[in-house]
Formats: sequence, C-alpha cells, structure tokens
Amino acid sequence: MNQHLTRRGFLTQSAAVGALSFVGGLPGRAEAAPARAGDDANVAPQYRGFLKKSMHDLPTPAMLVDLDLLDKNIQTIAAYLKGKPVGFRSHTKSHKCLEVAKLQLAAGGKGLCAAKLGEADFLIRGGMKDVLITAPVVGPLKIKRLMDLAAMAPDVKLVIDNEQNAIDLSQAALAARRPLKVLIDVNVGQNRTGLETPADVAAMAQLIGKQKGLELIGIQGYHGNNQHTVGFEARKTRSLQATERAVAARQALEKAGFAVQIVSVGGTGSYNVDGDYPGVTEIQPGSYVYMDTHYSKIGGKDSAGDDYNDFANSLSVLTTVISRPNRGYAVVDAGITALTMDERVPAAMGATGMVYSSAEEYGILKLDNPSRDLKVGDQLQMTPGHCCTTVNLYDVCFGIRNGIVEHAWAVEGRGRAD
Ligand SMILES: Cc1ncc(COP(=O)(O)O)c(C=O)c1O
Repeated sequence: MNQHLTRRGFLTQSAAVGALSFVGGLPGRAEAAPARAGDDANVAPQYRGFLKKSMHDLPTPAMLVDLDLLDKNIQTIAAYLKGKPVGFRSHTKSHKCLEVAKLQLAAGGKGLCAAKLGEADFLIRGGMKDVLITAPVVGPLKIKRLMDLAAMAPDVKLVIDNEQNAIDLSQAALAARRPLKVLIDVNVGQNRTGLETPADVAAMAQLIGKQKGLELIGIQGYHGNNQHTVGFEARKTRSLQATERAVAARQALEKAGFAVQIVSVGGTGSYNVDGDYPGVTEIQPGSYVYMDTHYSKIGGKDSAGDDYNDFANSLSVLTTVISRPNRGYAVVDAGITALTMDERVPAAMGATGMVYSSAEEYGILKLDNPSRDLKVGDQLQMTPGHCCTTVNLYDVCFGIRNGIVEHAWAVEGRGRAD
C-alpha cells in the first residue's frame, strides 16, 4: 500500500492552501528567466558603473566568470543528459548566485540544490521554487524558518536521516497545515549524513509514513568521497558502487510500498556515470559550473593524464601585482581572504613558473623561470583552488565576455552558512 494515500485528505487541503501562496512576494515572476545583460542594480554602489568597460578597470581582487565558458559548462551537462531519464538539479553551493541558478534552470535543470537553509532562503526569496536542501534541518528555530520558506515555495524539499527530526518536522508541518516533501538521506560511502542500510531506510520510511504532514518522495545518496578520485576508470568503479547503494535504498522503499519520485545522486566528477545508472532520476552536480584547480586535475574519460577537460575553468580572481621586491617572487593583492586554500592551491591562469602561497591578505608568487614578466601594477588572473569556498568570499561576480564586463551579479548566498 502506498502510505501517502492514507494522508490524502490532509495533503489535498494543505496543497490548496499552498497554491494560494506566491514566491518571494512576487506573483508571476518567471523562475527561469535568464539574466538581463547590463544590470548592476542589485550590487553595492562600489561595484556599479563597470558594465561595458574592460575587466582591467575593475577594482581588484575581483571575482570574474567567463560567460562563454559558463554557458558551455551548463550546456555540457544538459547535452549529456538530453533524451535520458535522468535530469540535473544543480547544487548552488558552488556559485551562490541567483542569476547563475536561473541560467541552469533555463538550460533544462529540473530544480536546484541548497546546502543549508540560508542558501535555500536566498533562492526562494529570489523566486526559485523547486529547491532541495541537501542536509538535515534540525531544531525548532531552523524548522520554523523552513516552514516560512515552505509557505513561499511549497515545492521546497529536504533530506532527513533521523527519527526525532522526522517527528519534529511532521509536527511543524501539521501546525502550519502545510505538507513537507522529504527524501531519506542515505550514506553511500561518504560517511557524512545518511542512513546506512536498506533496512534502516525501510524502517525510516515506515516511521515517516505514520507522520502526518510529511510526504516521502525519494532518496538522496551523494557520494562526495568519489568525486575527486583521480582517473576516470577508478572514479567510475567507485561511483558505481555508491550509486548501487542509493538504488538499493530505492528498491527497499518500493518494497515497503512507497512510490519513489526522486533518486538524487552524484556530482561533477561522476556525472557521466550516475547519469546513465538505471534507477537514478537526477544528478546534483555543483562545481561543474565554475571548476577549480582541484577538479581540473581528476582525469577525464577522453582526456590525457590527469586533465579533466569536460568542463572549463570559467571562474577566476583578477589580482594586481603590488610588490616585486626581488627577482624571486611577486606579491599580489589576493591572499587567503580572497582565494581559499582548503582543497588545492590557486594557479596563475595562462602562465607557468609561478607557485602561489598565501600571506593572509596577499598572495606570494614564487617565480621559477616564469612564462611572463610581472611588474608592479600588472594584473594576473588566478584560478581558485576550490570554487565553492572562494565564491563565499565575494559580494559580486562580474560576468565577462571577450574581456568586457557584461554583468555584475550579486552573490546572494555568500556567507549564508545559517
Ligand atoms: C550533497 C551535495 N550534493 C552535490 C554537491 C556538488 O558536488 P560537486 O561540486 O562535486 O559537483 C555537493 C558538494 O559538496 C554536496 O555536498
């Protein structure tokens, strides 16, 4: 028996209430409207006035995205999945920007992922409707905020892996007379959140089935531990094992009588493995949109050595050389407060013979037979070591085409670790 049916009365009534609400106070706003060129109205005054100018006129450090490469990356995912029964729900943790989210949806994305309530908050207030929060939302304050978001976007959904949390969410949903869509989070090898076995999943499903107000719609099985495995074949083997565990959880749910709408797995490193796995309904890649020095060295199916060319490095940080004390090194105005070092070291774009290290506010480039000369006042683009955490340092992302500033996009999700 499909246990959702036992709660049909509640769900129907609540859905009617939900249908009367609108998103972000802006009824009729198009979810996937592409960004308008030439709009810098949403950024702080110090970032306005640069549109149509050379990117070299920007105050540094400045975060740049190459718009052609951004588009190519998004189209690569969309084209790979075209005609397949698997969709993509991009993880916005990698760009934290409403305008980029809109581009992902306009390319056919079936929804968006948010790492936390704070990210879901900026997306939903910005008009996005189908947002999956990919980690549990725990505690009365957070659950209250979640219900406020659900009032704006009834299609918001979240993962759960804990019985008490399921009960708390159910009570909040009942009190608000608004059903909440939930996915069971499954640990498929990352050892972060998620239930361990299909039996655990079936038991949790039975519990959720008894909680009025919760609608169980599927499984999440993200295997972040495999995404950066170097070498396509090794990554594929590991990814297949992980995804098999997510699909086993799906089967456990179906055996227990639940209709499974979503099985959401995978990321940038495994898109062309998970995207072909029977039983998966969507992948949730994040970094593909911008990339970084870590991801660009994991090896691809068709590329030589460790290069991963499926997606291009569209993100960079424009820096200025502020000191050139001797021949051995140059100092730029972007240290760890402008370029993170949590995963890999940033690299100079289009130049060799420069090794970056951070001195907090400044970056030191150790020069060893550098391919270009660096003088005080010169500018240099750096590819971040980790796009998701570097993005978190910037209020604005400047969209660049052929060296000209076309957009100044607010990074609304920046700092939203709440
Ligand atoms: C739950 C979840 N899904 C998807 C992603 C996106 O992964 P990637 O950036 O490797 O594509 C992440 C990244 O950390 C994640 O935590």
